[in-house]
Amino acid sequence: MIKMIHMSTALISISLFLLRGFWVLQGSSMMKKKWVKIVPHVNDTILLVTAIILAMMIQQYPFVDAWLTAKFVALLVYIVLGMFALKRAKEIKNKILFFVLALVMFSYIVGVALNRTADWFL
Ligand code: HEM
Repeated sequence: MIKMIHMSTALISISLFLLRGFWVLQGSSMMKKKWVKIVPHVNDTILLVTAIILAMMIQQYPFVDAWLTAKFVALLVYIVLGMFALKRAKEIKNKILFFVLALVMFSYIVGVALNRTADWFL
């Protein structure tokens, strides 16, 4: 059940990110809507809370077990890249660059999740 919520919020997180990236590139006024500012944060909080519960359930933790350290750090990098893609970067080419890098980072996290190893791509 917890894992299902974790995976669902991960899917919602990337879906909302793609949608917001699309709106930013279009210069859409959707980005100013209140729910667009709030819902992603609520969802990502649930994603993180379920991550902590899952870690406690399987008794493996970031900074103890390498794959969870990788996942945790990669999540922080994904959040920062996302912030630059959606808000901070001013030029459109930089927004696109950060957007693509955030997608690469998200794919890496999914790879870590499915393989339970940090170097799954090797
Ligand atoms: C964007 C961020 C994340 C995504 C996309 C994601 C994705 C997933 C997926 C797909 C699974 C199911 C894997 C499987 O059963 O084969 C999973 C499980 C899990 N995730 Fe995440 N996750 C994210 C963030 C995190 C973070 C930050 C942590 C903790 C540091 C974490 C801890 C766990 C744990 C402990 C499991 C359970 C593994 C098990 O049952 O053996 N996740 N995650």
